[in-house]
Amino acid sequence: MRTRPLKVALLGCGVVGSEVARIMTTHADDLAARIGAPVELAGVAVRRPSKVREGIDPALVTTDATALVRRGDIDIVIEVIGGIEPARALITTAFENGASVVSANKALLAEDGASLHAAAEKYGRDLYYEAAVAGAIPLVRPLRESLAGDKVNRVLGIVNGTTNFILDKMDTSGAGYSEALDEATALGYAEADPTADVEGFDAAAKAAILAGIAFHTRVKIGDVHREGITEVTAADIASARRMGCTVKLLAICERAADGASVTARVHPAMIPLSHPLASVREAYNAVFIEADAAGQLMFYGPGAGGSPTASAVLGDLVAVCRNKLGEATGPGESAYTRLPVSPMGEVVTRYHISLDVADKPGVLAQVATVFAEQGVSIDTVRQQGKDGEASLVVVTHRAPDAALSGTVEALRKLDTVRGVASIMRVEGE
Ligand SMILES: NC(=O)c1ccc[n+]([C@@H]2O[C@H](COP(=O)([O-])OP(=O)(O)OC[C@H]3O[C@@H](n4cnc5c(N)ncnc54)[C@H](OP(=O)(O)O)[C@@H]3O)[C@@H](O)[C@H]2O)c1
Repeated sequence: MRTRPLKVALLGCGVVGSEVARIMTTHADDLAARIGAPVELAGVAVRRPSKVREGIDPALVTTDATALVRRGDIDIVIEVIGGIEPARALITTAFENGASVVSANKALLAEDGASLHAAAEKYGRDLYYEAAVAGAIPLVRPLRESLAGDKVNRVLGIVNGTTNFILDKMDTSGAGYSEALDEATALGYAEADPTADVEGFDAAAKAAILAGIAFHTRVKIGDVHREGITEVTAADIASARRMGCTVKLLAICERAADGASVTARVHPAMIPLSHPLASVREAYNAVFIEADAAGQLMFYGPGAGGSPTASAVLGDLVAVCRNKLGEATGPGESAYTRLPVSPMGEVVTRYHISLDVADKPGVLAQVATVFAEQGVSIDTVRQQGKDGEASLVVVTHRAPDAALSGTVEALRKLDTVRGVASIMRVEGE
């Protein structure tokens, strides 16, 4: 074993960084044995230097992250600050100054992964980011390496624990969205400002990263169609139950049937209770991958939290250290297919539509005509009437999203349709 240690700069020492530092210290001997050299924490960059950080030598702490990555003797930079800047500039500076990088930064990778990969390649460094997608769950490496010889056609995942917790609470207790969100906040599953989670931004960043790796192309967060869970009602969940389904916020990345384009989207959807993703409860994550040769694979586990996320960071640290000692680099960006990302209107799926209508003869025929005119074929219709008003629940066969939008627009113009109570896609069948 080499005795000279590999030097690690830790940028950020919050929820994830503090756990990375702890495991690096407590598992130091095992890490050294697995890598073939000891790893030394050479510096820790933070924003608030006076904060007490258990297990961290105060002499290592600095607020000057740029100076730390420019030191020249740093082998690996672990970036767990988050956000776009200064993280992007620090990662690029690390490459320029001889270091490889491990990052957990989904926002940055989904926004500008291509230029970070280009910088890594230019300077002959590694860029690893297993922790950026679904915390502890191995996904990036299985897609980049284990499935590199296969053809992935679909990635369907629950990649946000906060929203899964909220939807699961609504499903099991009958609670409304606000009530379930309050419980998630009280238990620490939702942040004080839950926007990134409940509006689907966090899941969209992960979908962009997964789609890019799975289909060997480039997908940015802006290419991902995004709808959050704030409009999901207790009635939607009850309706899903009646259909033998549950509601999940899904990240769905698909290769088109003709192989000429891809789509990436995040939205709530009904999935059958028999689908493996339906049994993913509370704040757990799971990702279902369909590949030509492998068939169906499912990855399941804790998608966030300091310790699970640190596990993924440490796995990357070991890989990058091994590469460094072998004077090699791991896989870089594989985006050779350059497949275009199609708009949401071209996505083909099934829909569950709930309408409030007048309870009088001919309404069903009128509604059915609108669907037919828009080329959306109906699978089932359920009608329930009360005091001159009725609700109509229509489940369609597969149709393009644009045709569904046209249908809904036309339905709203019918005198007999009082309102469109809910529209939800049906997936996983
Ligand atoms: N938390 C999770 O469960 C989780 C899961 C997967 C991925 N991630 C990703 O991991 C990254 C870190 O998340 P986190 O939850 O650990 O965040 P966090 O708890 O907010 O920690 C951020 C850390 O960065 C430091 N920092 C902020 N601005 C800085 C600057 N300009 N220079 C130097 N240090 C700076 C902060 O310093 P102070 O301590 O002084 O404030 C803090 O130590 C993010 O990219 C996030 O998306 C997190």
